[in-house]
Amino acid sequence: MSGYFLYHSIGTFPGKAKHMAAALAEFSSVWSAEDDGQWPAALAARQRFIEAWTRLIEAPRGTLTTAENVTSALYSLIGGLPAERLAGKRLLVAADCFPSLHFLLAGLAERFGFMLDTVPLRPGESWVRDEDFIARWQEDVGLALITFVTSTASHRCGVERLAAHGRAMGSIVGVDVTQGIGVAPFSVAATPLDFVVSTSLKWLCGSSGAGILQVAPELLATCRPELRGWFSQPNPFSWDLDAFAYADDARRFDHGTPAILASLASLPGLEWVEKTGIDAIRAQNATLVERIISAALDNGWTLRSPLDARERGGSVMLGLPQGGEAARIIASLRNERLYCDARGTTLRLSPGMVTTEAAVEALIAKLEEHIGSRHRRAS
Ligand SMILES: Cc1ncc(COP(=O)(O)O)c(C=O)c1O
Repeated sequence: MSGYFLYHSIGTFPGKAKHMAAALAEFSSVWSAEDDGQWPAALAARQRFIEAWTRLIEAPRGTLTTAENVTSALYSLIGGLPAERLAGKRLLVAADCFPSLHFLLAGLAERFGFMLDTVPLRPGESWVRDEDFIARWQEDVGLALITFVTSTASHRCGVERLAAHGRAMGSIVGVDVTQGIGVAPFSVAATPLDFVVSTSLKWLCGSSGAGILQVAPELLATCRPELRGWFSQPNPFSWDLDAFAYADDARRFDHGTPAILASLASLPGLEWVEKTGIDAIRAQNATLVERIISAALDNGWTLRSPLDARERGGSVMLGLPQGGEAARIIASLRNERLYCDARGTTLRLSPGMVTTEAAVEALIAKLEEHIGSRHRRAS
């Protein structure tokens, strides 16, 4: 029985340890060989990662590159935009965006001359409604950052509708797909967006350090990233100090020597998702999530995720009673080898491919003990 409910955090797949170990062992032997084969092999491995991601989101070739994490990917993009796209404009974001991105944007606002406008949650609600986001989105919005699936409610936004509104307003529209990619359908071929940021953790089951930035060709052509270096050039070995030039593809967002290990360690997860298929991953996840939701409804637990599956990512969040409860419940579940986490009084549950139905039943039984069970009270 696997009681792994942490797909919103790291993510895993059957055979992950073996596949990662093989990839890293192969890299170790290439990297340690006393020859000159290191960089061609390492850069080719990174390229396989870039291509796997490009296929995954159906992006045009040459529009995607690596970043250490989502925050740094967003920083690279912002620092590359023509000044007039942000100066004197609003940058629209929702209060349930990933906090790290809000911290970054709040710190950049003054220097880039934009006003950070944060759409609030309605009192007592757990996610920002799409209609509230749209109501605040007028033509003075230079850039809007959308969260595809939120980390606190697993609310999946209507990305198509938001992107269409953004196009009509003439804004740059970016989306953070971190919590949804790999479990919910997403494609920039189907839904044109100006940029995408993500990590390879969560449903893609990769390692930390393997973020990505994808920029649509029209926007990419206008970007001159301030975070730049020798790898931003068409030829990194062009070392003439007066002849710096940007590569005409996503390599312009590269800077110093690229990190390789994270791409390499994440590729097995990406390949597993590609081989398994999002539909199969989603179907298995949906069965387990629906079981948890029906137990929650049955028992009168507070749901902090949308009831409608079309508005949900792969997680289900439950509201816990106030005061020291969360840590105690998580510790008690851990004793039963059931692994989840909490943010404040929100318990986050994300069953995936390794999570068994028996573990879901065990989880529900434990939660009935901790949060309460209508059946027990009735009997
Ligand atoms: C929606 C979302 N965005 C971004 C991140 C991670 O951001 P970073 O890679 O900058 O740490 C997470 C991680 O939990 C997330 O849930």
